Amino acid sequence: MAITRIILLFCTFASLSLMSSAQTCKNYKFSSKIGFNSCADLPVLQAHLHWNYNSTAETVHIAYRANQIPRGWISWGINPTGSGMVGTQALVAFQDLNGKMKVYTTQINSYSPEMKPKPLSFSVSELSAEYVNDEMIISAVLGPLSNGTTFNIVWQAGNAVSNGIPQSHPHYGPYIRSSGTLDFLSL
Ligand SMILES: *[C@@H]1O[C@H](CO)[C@@H](O)[C@H](O)[C@H]1NC(C)=O
Ligand SMILES: *[C@@H]1O[C@H](CO)[C@@H](O)[C@H](O)[C@H]1NC(C)=O
Repeated sequence: MAITRIILLFCTFASLSLMSSAQTCKNYKFSSKIGFNSCADLPVLQAHLHWNYNSTAETVHIAYRANQIPRGWISWGINPTGSGMVGTQALVAFQDLNGKMKVYTTQINSYSPEMKPKPLSFSVSELSAEYVNDEMIISAVLGPLSNGTTFNIVWQAGNAVSNGIPQSHPHYGPYIRSSGTLDFLSL
């Protein structure tokens, strides 16, 4: 048991150090005019986070992008009350049956969340999504975020959406390592 914990801790640290190394996100050009000053290549799920933090307003303009198949879904969020999935204040996006991107906020309140639209514990504005070059991209302005600049972040992806509801994601490997800590002033 103790050994398992140590290995798990090691894995966590190893993956978080990747967040600040590779930096292929730096070369990414968004189709919109907005330029993001900071970015991180997240360690799993072919995912990247770009952001501008406004320390006066305590808001963060983010763009989360991840490789995804047309019928899949992506999600990214902040967990203000814990480090895992439950408690995450999430943004979720997928294509509807007409191929149009749909995006909304939802709260992950259990291990089998409803995944229906729900307001978050902080304000969200300018929420939008697009599908470009096999990547789904969610952008939004979050906050004011009142708890400093370091947050537990959680991201996820799944292969299916049914009746407008993202279906359960796989439960192995990258899908259970998709969380970490991020300081919006760090990069
Ligand atoms: C940051 O937020 C403040 C207060 O809302 C605003 O006046 C300022 O223009 C923002 N700065 C940037 C760089 O957007
Ligand atoms: C700040 O922390 C409190 C207590 O952990 C939490 O309930 C609240 O949702 C957090 N707010 C934000 C914006 O993260």
